[in-house]
Amino acid sequence: MASVRSNLRRIALLGGLAGLIMVSAAVKAGVDLPKLEHGKGEHCVEDTQYMRRHHMELLFHHRNETMHQGIRTTKYSLTQCVECHASSKTGSVAASKEDFCVACHDYAGVKLDCWDCHATKPMQRKTAPTAARPTPSPMLAGVSK
Ligand code: HEC
Ligand code: HEC
Ligand code: HEC
Repeated sequence: MASVRSNLRRIALLGGLAGLIMVSAAVKAGVDLPKLEHGKGEHCVEDTQYMRRHHMELLFHHRNETMHQGIRTTKYSLTQCVECHASSKTGSVAASKEDFCVACHDYAGVKLDCWDCHATKPMQRKTAPTAARPTPSPMLAGVSK
């Protein structure tokens, strides 16, 4: 198990595509990847297979449109992902290793800094406890909050 895991990590580092193929192979083989909780509703915003491979591009593209062109749509909004994919146990997409946005990433060695700024829970209030949130990336240490 341990060597499968470290090989996977190495391959994921070598190239995103290889990483993705390995992850989907691992998902199919049921290797110790936590079972993903089914999202709310019946469908994702795009075909599931497509989402597995391309969700990061959709997010980055949508972010660029919002931030640089002022285009505001909700289809690929990160807030929407969180609405549908928050765990029924933790209420979050990234509080535990089984939570939706962490499960595959942890396996593939991907770390996101998104949660330094974006809520991991649906409609999170400013006063919500911060304990479940990951420690801010050192890269943001100088950024005022
Ligand atoms: C089915 C597994 C899986 C799930 C579920 C998943 N991801 Fe990913 N994600 C990946 C893999 C694998 C990569 C790495 C792809 C690569 O290296 O190009 C990745 C990469 C990313 C990236 C790009 C990271 C970077 O620095 O380039 C973002 C952003 C991202 N995911 C966001 C999310 C969010 C938000 C969620 C939860 C709504 C999520 N992902 C759920 C598998 C998954
Ligand atoms: C330093 C803080 C910060 C970090 C880190 C960050 N964002 Fe954002 N993001 C923002 C701000 C501020 C906005 C603008 C919010 C708005 O106008 O709605 C935004 C907007 C977005 C949007 C468009 C609005 C929406 O609700 O979807 C997307 C998509 C997005 N970010 C994705 C990401 C992803 C994916 C990551 C991690 C790879 C990330 N962001 C990391 C601060 C951040
Ligand atoms: C309306 C609710 C909804 C929204 C919004 C939503 N999803 Fe989904 N998502 C789902 C459902 C339901 C599934 C499972 C579909 C299936 O089983 O075929 C899914 C599947 C996925 C998968 C594949 C998981 C697997 O089993 O391999 C990824 C990755 C994903 N979503 C990421 C995202 C990201 C990123 C966003 C935001 C851009 C998002 N989703 C927005 C409901 C949603």
